[in-house]
Amino acid sequence: MKKADLSVNFCGVNFENPFCLSSSPVGNHAEMCSRAFDAGWGGIVYKTLNVDTSFKIVMPSPRLNAYHYNDKRFVGLQNAEQITDRTLDDNIMDIKELKRKYPSRVLISSIMGFSDSDWEILAKRSEDAGADMLELNFSCPQMARKDAGHRIGQDYNLVEHFTGVVKKHCSIPVMAKMTPNITDMIPVALAAKRGGADAIAAINTIRAITDIDIDQKVPMPTINHQSGITGFSGPAAKPIGLRFVSELYNSKDLALPISAIGGIETWVDALQYILLGGDTIQVTTAIMRYGYRIVEDMIEGLSDYMIDHGINSLSEIKGSAATKLIDPSNFDTRHQVVSVIDSEKCIGCGQCYISCQDGANQAIVFDTRLRKASVDETRCVGCTLCKHVCPVWDCISTRTVDTRNQSHAAIF
Ligand SMILES: Cc1cc2nc3c(=O)[nH]c(=O)nc-3n(C[C@H](O)[C@H](O)[C@H](O)COP(=O)(O)O)c2cc1C
Repeated sequence: MKKADLSVNFCGVNFENPFCLSSSPVGNHAEMCSRAFDAGWGGIVYKTLNVDTSFKIVMPSPRLNAYHYNDKRFVGLQNAEQITDRTLDDNIMDIKELKRKYPSRVLISSIMGFSDSDWEILAKRSEDAGADMLELNFSCPQMARKDAGHRIGQDYNLVEHFTGVVKKHCSIPVMAKMTPNITDMIPVALAAKRGGADAIAAINTIRAITDIDIDQKVPMPTINHQSGITGFSGPAAKPIGLRFVSELYNSKDLALPISAIGGIETWVDALQYILLGGDTIQVTTAIMRYGYRIVEDMIEGLSDYMIDHGINSLSEIKGSAATKLIDPSNFDTRHQVVSVIDSEKCIGCGQCYISCQDGANQAIVFDTRLRKASVDETRCVGCTLCKHVCPVWDCISTRTVDTRNQSHAAIF
């Protein structure tokens, strides 16, 4: 079977494929990382290191809560985890061992300091251990200290300062990992660039509450009768990640490579991030749920897509969907559609009728005798709610109507 070339050059570092573990428990120590490399991952961002002699990390317990929505399990994951609770010496030993065993695979050391000297120590020791790149964690939403993690990522001056400190003390490329817990990521990413960052990683987890125990009246995860607003990840977070990555890519001032993160489970998710400007891809929650083996499908799916579409390199398609994003105030409102229902495929469930009646423009006609739905084009405004609620794939489509001559009566 022919395989496409999935290799990516990212900040001068060669990845045999764009798929990486993001910094989290999935890359906690050498034994785990070895199994991830053996499964086929192109790179690993190791669990965030700190200087344990400066600040000792103790993890809360329990620290996870899965977000289930009706019968869909695990559409997201809330975690209250801290950065590594292993010693710096142990982690550095593991990074050395991994680079010795897998010299051609990419190992990125994620670091978080609490002072200039912490950042310096972490950068130097990671580089000396053989790390190919650094990722600066400016984005953990639940640090055990108030002056770290996403608090840094919300302060342009600190981002620029700490990036500068790290750049001064290392020669390997440096990525700054952004928090999504901010309205506009671009000024923070630009601050990282001013500090010397070679790339941006986005997104870390989103501050959230996933559930509440209604008997105990306490949010979850419940840690000794209390809880907190902590990081949310997984498929439900993907739309937010896609938005931030596209904004980073479309910023002409930024123009830095991007490591894309947020809710990636399949090769299609990964491809969507690449089309919005991602160079490499990072994954955690999907691995926590399904294991390292998901990379096999990612590699095969992306490779088949490239072959089918005659794509030689991922750089050919990078960002091609991002360039089609325009300001919503500039949408071409002369372009209008109406819904079309395929009566052969309609199963007569009436879902489109109910939704259009109570949530749209009362444009669906439902024949109760034949149990078939149809569209009253004079009322349809082409919102497509019917298409999205229809349980039959491909039953409802749209047809473009020419509004330039005002023949479309539904434009009130
Ligand atoms: C349990 C857990 C622990 C995490 N720990 C870290 C960490 O130590 N450092 C870091 O930069 N990001 C950490 N993250 C964030 C992930 O690296 C990633 O940015 C986020 O989960 C979004 O990706 P996903 O939807 O694929 O999980 C953690 C995420 C989870 C779920």
